[in-house]
Amino acid sequence: GADIRQLLGTTGLVTLDPGFGNTAACSSAITYIDGDAGILRYRGYPIEQLADKANFLEVSYLLIYGELPTATEYADFAERVSRHTMLDEDLRQFFSGFPRNAHPMPVLSSAVSALSTFYQDTLNPRDDEAQELATVRLMAKLPTLAAYTYKKSIGQPFLYPDNSLGLVENFLRLTFGVPAEEYGLDPEIVRALDLLFILHADHEQNCSTSTVRLVGSSEANLFSSISSAINALSGPLHGGANAAVMDMLEEIKASGGDVDSFVRRVKNKEAGVKLMGFGHRVYKNYDPRARLVKNVADTIIGKLAGGDELLDIATALEERALSDDYFVERKLYPNVDFYTGLIYRAMGFPTHFFTVLFALGRLPGWIAHYREMVHDPATKIGRPRQIYTGAAERSFVPMEQR
Ligand code: ACO
Repeated sequence: GADIRQLLGTTGLVTLDPGFGNTAACSSAITYIDGDAGILRYRGYPIEQLADKANFLEVSYLLIYGELPTATEYADFAERVSRHTMLDEDLRQFFSGFPRNAHPMPVLSSAVSALSTFYQDTLNPRDDEAQELATVRLMAKLPTLAAYTYKKSIGQPFLYPDNSLGLVENFLRLTFGVPAEEYGLDPEIVRALDLLFILHADHEQNCSTSTVRLVGSSEANLFSSISSAINALSGPLHGGANAAVMDMLEEIKASGGDVDSFVRRVKNKEAGVKLMGFGHRVYKNYDPRARLVKNVADTIIGKLAGGDELLDIATALEERALSDDYFVERKLYPNVDFYTGLIYRAMGFPTHFFTVLFALGRLPGWIAHYREMVHDPATKIGRPRQIYTGAAERSFVPMEQR
């Protein structure tokens, strides 16, 4: 019976839209998704074409600058990125403060946050030149930081980047290479990881990208905004889903591979039991990225692991779900992360590192959104309203009378 204007604290129009399912917070020219038709395009280019013909650095350029690079632009960008892969020696020391068994996501977000203390010349969002340098630094240093979170977790020494290598090659060598030994790069693995990065590179206003925009809208610097995005990505409903899928598959395997009884538990909505890697806020059709990932999974897992029982369980689970009314009615299809974990595992990455790989792929999208926001004259500080449901006005009660 309360007057709605009192609850809102305003006489203006306010919409209540938990999860922002129907609320656009900005306009953007970066990524187009038609969730019903299962369409994804970066700057107008279908994801299938980019996955087939482009590489990750080229796609990063496209997302950040709006056009595919010419050969000269690409060479210049690649050269600038490779020149900035090293970290300040003091930043390397930073890793020693964390426990070895720390989850790599908070270590990574802390390290990215710390970049703003080491590179203070690139903090001003209104200075285009500074933003350009911050962009290149992040693209170059995140793979190094990510590899160091891994090295830290297994107690191995950090390697220096080798700038004769490309972004993905460098990252793989920094992660799996050891001092004094040549690291043998497998071009098929390089290409597969590059492709997975392309598929993760942007996805319009998802939770972590919205975080970049919300944090950045206060004119917080690029490093701080990306650090916040890494934290947003860490949750199991977002970037953490790829690891959660693996836990789910392991659990099914441990129970004898019984897909049916797991699906029954999901349908009964047992507390905490969801079909991880299924469902998406926007896609109500097969996630176009999931199709491309499935192809990579078949090749890489076949090649590296000689097959994987978990892949068989995943395939059975997908078939079972896609023919079940519960999933059909709710339009629940595999999302990009249903198969990625299996590929990462076959490549040798531990499960808790999977979300770091997602962050590496998503970085150019985050940067593109930050830069678009900074240049958009319509940008205002993000500040949602609420519907107040607390107590009406009441008088203070002294402590001894409570
Ligand atoms: N397993 C079982 N049931 C599900 C699942 C699932 N994975 N996802 C949604 N549902 C059900 C819900 O219980 C709900 O059923 P109801 O109508 O009977 O209550 C219905 O489908 C609609 O689901 P919502 O939760 O309203 O969908 P929402 O858009 O809020 O959530 C989300 C999307 C978070 C991705 C959800 O599908 C989910 O939790 N999936 C599993 C986690 C996951 O894979 N996340 C990765 C997302 S993609 C990415 O970040 C790259």
